Amino acid sequence: MSETLERWGSKRAFILAVTGAAVGLGNIWRFPYVAGENGGAAFLLIYVAFVLLLGIPVMMAEILIGRAGRRGPMQALGALAAEAGATPHWRWLGLFGALTVFCILSFYSVVSGWSIEFLVASVNGSFNGASAAEIGAGFEAFLANPGLQIFNHSLFLFMTMTVVAAGVAKGLERLNNLLMPLLYGLLLLLAGYASTTDGFGTALAWLFLPSFEALTPSVVVHAMGHAFFTLAVGACALMAYGAYMPEEQSLPRAAVAVAVLDISVALLAGIAIFSVVFAQGMDPADGPGLMFVTLPIAFSELPWGSVWLSVFFLLLLLATWTSAINLAEPMVATLQGLGLRRSISTAIVALSVWLIGLLSALSFSTLAEFRPLLGRNIFELVSSIPPDIFLPLGGLMIAIFAAWVMPRERVVSALGAGENGYIMWRIIIRWVSIPLTFVVLLAGLL
Ligand code: TRP
Repeated sequence: MSETLERWGSKRAFILAVTGAAVGLGNIWRFPYVAGENGGAAFLLIYVAFVLLLGIPVMMAEILIGRAGRRGPMQALGALAAEAGATPHWRWLGLFGALTVFCILSFYSVVSGWSIEFLVASVNGSFNGASAAEIGAGFEAFLANPGLQIFNHSLFLFMTMTVVAAGVAKGLERLNNLLMPLLYGLLLLLAGYASTTDGFGTALAWLFLPSFEALTPSVVVHAMGHAFFTLAVGACALMAYGAYMPEEQSLPRAAVAVAVLDISVALLAGIAIFSVVFAQGMDPADGPGLMFVTLPIAFSELPWGSVWLSVFFLLLLLATWTSAINLAEPMVATLQGLGLRRSISTAIVALSVWLIGLLSALSFSTLAEFRPLLGRNIFELVSSIPPDIFLPLGGLMIAIFAAWVMPRERVVSALGAGENGYIMWRIIIRWVSIPLTFVVLLAGLL
């Protein structure tokens, strides 16, 4: 009896850990603003299709490599490659993943810092009675303040790295257990409120009725990058979680559960945010500030607005925290694999992410005109190229490794879905996910 309970507990813990990594800024902050810049419904349609056709199968590939290898990404890839008689150079894929999450964490920490600032501001009631224009101007002023940007970035990174230094432990599991239902409930409430506003109909049409002239190649590239980003796939960051997966758990079921949760959080956030955008006559393509401006406006019109808003930013902060811990883990694991102690590895990662993150933190003030590539500043570069190019590239290599290199029996047992489940997965990943990722990447790079 107790055995059954324990097993059930660990399956759930695994799904929660992956959901904690997946649900974060990507769903609530990045989805609305990237969708806003890429035509709304056309983007949503393609992004959901990519989650189903690439995101889920590649997530399974990534986790099963960790599950079969039962150690850190570089070591797992190296050992499995050796076992299959393939080149040991596959292990560099682990390093590429670490580099990708390094770039991502450097801006992720800055934006999470914005949530800290907004949490404090809403607890203080700073948004009470403020007009939409005042809230917008306040956000701009905050972005342009180098001291505040650096302070919040430092604070968030410190919060993240102390947990990572201690080892990603039970505490996180418990946090996720409580956090996900609360965040979900609050977003449902917000979306419910949004349905009573003037902007709701326009928001639904804008999100769900695609106009196909909006469908450009660049929309497709962004949608693919976002599918990987939001699922936390493509940087070997979920590989580590696979190593702890219970023996008897079915990987396809877990992956589908996570993806469904992840998409629905993004949809709820999108409905809430775009209802405000249209009710207020704002521009959906307003960029990275979209969520930070619209939600305070929405809440300020609700009874008990600042209380709800404080709860929202607290939940958001906790959700980004569990994602950031997942982002930091592969780098720390990689350094540890090279023989460094965990505390030293964490310190090195923390310091270098902090330094590079300063470039993003200052991209709205001191370094606003420092545009080294493609006319984009550092924040714009690191928040687009690693998610849109590096993650799909990493995902492609991960998929090729699991689908073509690893020995069949290893994959069948690590997938945990029987012979038929394996065959279905293999058909999809070999003939849909891999070619599709390849073609879109190529189109994006040309
Ligand atoms: N998925 C997270 C979000 O949506 C971000 C994230 C966490 C991530 N871990 C990752 C992105 C690993 C890429 C790789 O906010």
